[in-house]
Amino acid sequence: EYVIDNGQLILAEEAKIDRNDRGYHFGDGLYEVIRIYDGKPFTMTMHLDRFAASAKKLDMSLPMTMDQLESLLEQLIEKNQLEDGIVYVQMTRGVSQRNHLYSRSETAVITGYSQEMPAKKELLKNGIDVWVTDDIRWLRCDIKTINLLGNVMAKREAADHDCHEAVMHRDGMVTEGSSSNLFLIKDNILYTHPATNLILNGITRQVVIQIAKELGYEVIEEAFPKDVIEHADEAFITSTTSEVTPIKQFKGQVEASLEIGPITRQLQEAFEQRK
Ligand code: PDD
Repeated sequence: EYVIDNGQLILAEEAKIDRNDRGYHFGDGLYEVIRIYDGKPFTMTMHLDRFAASAKKLDMSLPMTMDQLESLLEQLIEKNQLEDGIVYVQMTRGVSQRNHLYSRSETAVITGYSQEMPAKKELLKNGIDVWVTDDIRWLRCDIKTINLLGNVMAKREAADHDCHEAVMHRDGMVTEGSSSNLFLIKDNILYTHPATNLILNGITRQVVIQIAKELGYEVIEEAFPKDVIEHADEAFITSTTSEVTPIKQFKGQVEASLEIGPITRQLQEAFEQRK
């Protein structure tokens, strides 16, 4: 099995991470998760654009061109003969003695791996329960940083309540899932949080918005209070790994049971066609 280590394709057992990597000390880095269907990357360009955008927002310079990175990821997929799965790629702000102050002269370190991951058919079909909790994260959730403590704490809390995902709200306004975006449907209209600093603008989110509009649905990108969840007809989450996963129940600060409705099914089918 091959991995990317410091920008090179090497055997996994030969990979070494420096203990002074700023990713290790500070979570000072960014990442992407890209889906591979039938050996082909899905929306690779959108992911790479977001990768470059995150780097810019973090004042980090890329150690290679985006074309070089794309070809490196393609080689990884090919060498590992990945069919259905994901590629994880991350970039940290290089290696230096621990110091909060970063210098702009360190060379960023790119690492990555691939992993087989068949579609989660059971969840796609039967839906998931989600746990509604506070969004305790920082104010730059638009950056896809590896610094994910708020997300991992929310996910654990959700799992401790037998829920598959956490749905978070900031002062009562729903933001997103711990590793996904959230959509509600009411009277044939889709609602989701706008792509501001308070959420990660998911690639799947963007694809689903596009698909919904093509199918003739109105999509309103506005923040909504958590209490309106009780009045929703349908709800689902989106992400690279969960695609379009229906929500059957909200638990915790909001309690609501939902049917998995026709629009969610239609979007799932259209998404399936697209990939
Ligand atoms: N997470 N919001 C958050 C906080 C996320 O971590 C993710 C993805 C998304 C959905 O983004 P996309 O559709 O581009 O995957 C939204 C990835 C899958 C992860 O951390 O594993």
